[in-house]
Amino acid sequence: MSASDAVTDSLNRLRAEFRDLPGGKPADYIPQLGLADPEAFGLALVSMDGHCYSAGEADVPFTIQSVSKPFIYALALSLLGLDEVSRWVGAEPSGDAFNAISLEPGTGRPANAMVNAGAIVTTALIPDAPDEPAFERILHCLGRFAGRELEVDEEVFTSEATTGDRNRALAYLIRSTGTMPVDPVLAVDRYFRQCAVRVTALDLATMAATLAYGGFNPVTREQVVSAEVTSRVLAVMATCGMYDGSGEWLLRIGLPAKSGVSGGLIAVGPARFGLATYSPPLDAAGNSVRGQAALRALSERYGLHLM
Ligand code: DON
Repeated sequence: MSASDAVTDSLNRLRAEFRDLPGGKPADYIPQLGLADPEAFGLALVSMDGHCYSAGEADVPFTIQSVSKPFIYALALSLLGLDEVSRWVGAEPSGDAFNAISLEPGTGRPANAMVNAGAIVTTALIPDAPDEPAFERILHCLGRFAGRELEVDEEVFTSEATTGDRNRALAYLIRSTGTMPVDPVLAVDRYFRQCAVRVTALDLATMAATLAYGGFNPVTREQVVSAEVTSRVLAVMATCGMYDGSGEWLLRIGLPAKSGVSGGLIAVGPARFGLATYSPPLDAAGNSVRGQAALRALSERYGLHLM
């Protein structure tokens, strides 16, 4: 078997092994996400030479949700620099749920850019450009990481916009501590739109591979962000990407990762690969049950732990 067939074979075997793993359920606090097919299970890997490997439902579209956060943090760092971004959002694990208040005592900043509070601020930090409004910049940036033009799922956007009072409340709380750079209504609208961008597991694996390759997209061969920015993003993903499960994740799987409530999950093997899974049933922390199990098995079997 060729090396490339062996990768596809491993992904297919992982899928077969974990597809009937019980537990979890698709998020439904955003009503439209509750309609997802709980059986869908896709895995994808993109290597540093730009090869794409996949198994199962790796082409099925779903909304990116929180998996967008590290990429928009990368965009903010690229446009404003680490010192300016750090005035507004911290880099400490919150140890709390993704939707917790998580504002640091003293500075009032959100704890980090991976929890909702921090991500709303990161998104709000993206300025309009003369020829490109802020949201177009965000969409374009996600597309450069994915290697294709992406679109917003308007139904998921509306579903979250009409039910997202907790995020709206967070945005107002953040303004009350003096760390909200724009109007909270505008910030949350832009953040909901960003979360509703449609991707596939293959897109996410390409995005993860771009982080693995120091900001260079191995499929399009475009430098999307600098290697310096990428290293900052991976640091925050490693410590905060899986919310209050981040420590346990780093302990057992040992790869920077980011999950989303629609069931997407990425993991980055620096200078080696980008990995992504899609499976909607989530555990209590909001992380995909099958995705986590498959990545854990992969890490253990192939010795991918970085530490
Ligand atoms: O803000 C929210 O609640 C969603 N748009 C995204 C949350 C999310 O994906 C958390 N991930 N596990």
